[in-house]
Amino acid sequence: MKFFVDTADIAEIRELAETGLIDGVTTNPSLIAKAGGRMMETIREICAVVPGPVSAEVAATASDGMVSEGRALADIAPNVTVKVPLTWDGLKACRSLHQAGISVNVTLCFSATQALLAAKCGAAFISPFIGRLDDIGLDGMNLIEEIRTIYDNYDAIETEILAASIRSPIHVRDAAMAGADVATIPPAVLKSLAHHPLTDKGLAAFLADWKSTGQSIL
Ligand code: E4P
Repeated sequence: MKFFVDTADIAEIRELAETGLIDGVTTNPSLIAKAGGRMMETIREICAVVPGPVSAEVAATASDGMVSEGRALADIAPNVTVKVPLTWDGLKACRSLHQAGISVNVTLCFSATQALLAAKCGAAFISPFIGRLDDIGLDGMNLIEEIRTIYDNYDAIETEILAASIRSPIHVRDAAMAGADVATIPPAVLKSLAHHPLTDKGLAAFLADWKSTGQSIL
């Protein structure tokens, strides 16, 4: 499973990129607003730090505008993936951008049929939002499973399932078990993946016992 980090905070991206665990980055207008910088500059900086796909989202709502903005975003760096919303206009823009050789991430996906449409329009990634479905009492992970089943039924579909709106390590585990190709993970959740209280407890005991031997390895 590929790990993308879901943030526009360049400091956090730099820190996480040093682990070698980051395969890409996703941003959205809310994350850009939270980070506080100019969007084009922020995306340029992120693309220089992470060589994998960096999603940058359009703000236009009509397909022509999305295509123009998408082309401008794609010009920033070769690893930009243009993000468009899952609307009819977004799907039309996805097809145009895909035909122009630009990688597209179709975002705000909440149903399997939406995911099927995005695949038919040449999306490189489909982003089902797990957490936001859970928030309204639905089963976000079930959507990942449905999309996996549908995509696996058709050899022609090359769209990758990018599990988004991830809120916990359990979401990451379950998305991996359901066969999502990618998980885009907030920095805090990503860091928490390595933690387990029994690891901390076990290490403390090993270190205490090692100290009692009076030995050193070097
Ligand atoms: C994905 O690309 C989105 O940026 C993100 O995962 C949305 O997550 P949220 O529902 O926590 O805002």
